[in-house]
Amino acid sequence: MILGLSLILKLLLWLAASFGAYMSEAKYSSSSLGCIDIPYPFGKSGEAMNKQFEISCQSDDAAPLLQLGGTSMYYEVESISLQGHLSIYTGAIAVDCPPNFTRESGWIDLEGTPYTISDTKSSGNMLTIIGCENVAVILGPDGISASTCVTFCNSSIAFATEEISNGSCSSTGGCCQAFIPKGLKRFNFTLQSIQTAYKGLGQPSCSQAFFVNQSSFKFSTDMLLALMQDEPISQDRYLVTLDWAIGNETCEEARLKDETYACKKNSYCYTSANGVGYRCNCSLGYDGNPYAADGCTDINECMDPQLNPCVGLCINEPGSVSCACPHGQLGDGRKQGSGCRNMVPLELSLGNTFKFAY
Ligand SMILES: *[C@@H]1O[C@H](CO)[C@@H](O)[C@H](O)[C@H]1NC(C)=O
Ligand SMILES: *[C@@H]1O[C@H](CO)[C@@H](O)[C@H](O)[C@H]1NC(C)=O
Ligand SMILES: *[C@@H]1O[C@H](CO)[C@@H](O)[C@H](O)[C@H]1NC(C)=O
Ligand SMILES: *[C@@H]1O[C@H](CO)[C@@H](O)[C@H](O)[C@H]1NC(C)=O
Ligand SMILES: *[C@@H]1O[C@H](CO)[C@@H](O)[C@H](O)[C@H]1NC(C)=O
Ligand SMILES: *[C@@H]1O[C@H](CO)[C@@H](O)[C@H](O)[C@H]1NC(C)=O
Ligand SMILES: *[C@@H]1O[C@H](CO)[C@@H](O)[C@H](O)[C@H]1NC(C)=O
Repeated sequence: MILGLSLILKLLLWLAASFGAYMSEAKYSSSSLGCIDIPYPFGKSGEAMNKQFEISCQSDDAAPLLQLGGTSMYYEVESISLQGHLSIYTGAIAVDCPPNFTRESGWIDLEGTPYTISDTKSSGNMLTIIGCENVAVILGPDGISASTCVTFCNSSIAFATEEISNGSCSSTGGCCQAFIPKGLKRFNFTLQSIQTAYKGLGQPSCSQAFFVNQSSFKFSTDMLLALMQDEPISQDRYLVTLDWAIGNETCEEARLKDETYACKKNSYCYTSANGVGYRCNCSLGYDGNPYAADGCTDINECMDPQLNPCVGLCINEPGSVSCACPHGQLGDGRKQGSGCRNMVPLELSLGNTFKFAY
């Protein structure tokens, strides 16, 4: 929805006190990550790098759970990537059924933790509101980084006339999405209804706000209809991506401390692009887990047709590969190079010694 700046400013002035940011636990369970597949630095109690990377597991086939924000809130983990993403399922940040504003339980303050809510550009996370005639604002702790969106439905007949339809949230009524800025570890959140001529004309009085990875979310009119009947949205389960990093230092600072430096053999360090801390990556020619001792292992390029650069003999070496030509052939042996050519047959070369200077 495009909205005049002056209208946004007016809306902002109407806002009541802002609330802390809450993110409730998801109500249903269906994670695909098993408790036995958790990569270091994450791990079960005693196996993780430190308390903040601990994953709770009831049993090996139970869903892995992550505790966040120093509370008793546990979020089901859907995936962990060594490139610094971790996806969890959450419920709503807030549910607003005027005149009551329901804070979902669970204060989220990620300050001092390895986690940052992933920004829209790197993960597709969006602040999302379902409802009619509402405005939501998230305000970063600096009071500057902010994100806002407004939902419109216009009238109850919008349903009947199919002005509101299933599909992506941003292109239909009853739903809006806003970008998530970088570095969001803590924020204030406000959800407020706007007075319009349509207000109350058979519209949902409730609204719900949440973060979600856009590509795992599809807006449906059922969600609005549930809110209209003051029922919770049945699919109260949203996939949210967090960024994680090690510590709060730069690579240069961390490298000086041998005992705590997380990047193991055959890996390098890079600074996190969102929030504080650093991450590790296997060196060129190696792959695996750079955080685990001997986790980065040599890639055998010769065994992989995609990586094998040779037409002739392939010789795998630690972190690299070289090529050679079979006996009796000449060249550098590389697909991108001179390849391998047969030497001039003996009989021929005998007679042509002058022409071919081999
Ligand atoms: C608002 O809260 C009051 C007091 O807790 C309760 O009686 C009332 O039913 C609530 N109204 C709505 C719409 O949830
Ligand atoms: C977002 O969701 C899609 C679809 O479920 C998934 O393929 C993708 O990996 C998710 N993105 C992140 C960063 O987790
Ligand atoms: C966020 O809310 C808290 C508590 O209401 C308040 O003290 C703080 O100043 C607010 N921060 C911003 C950036 O508005
Ligand atoms: C609401 O009304 C405005 C102005 O009449 C229109 O531009 C917009 O498309 C309508 N939105 C919906 C969801 O019907
Ligand atoms: C939207 O999708 C839901 C199922 O998700 C379906 O029940 C409903 O009829 C659909 N509405 C429209 C207008 O297509
Ligand atoms: C960095 O982390 C250490 C250990 O967790 C902590 O003692 C220190 O206060 C942190 N420093 C900053 C600037 O956050
Ligand atoms: C990590 O290594 C992989 C494979 O070599 C590479 O594709 C990726 O860009 C690297 N990431 C960073 C941040 O260096």
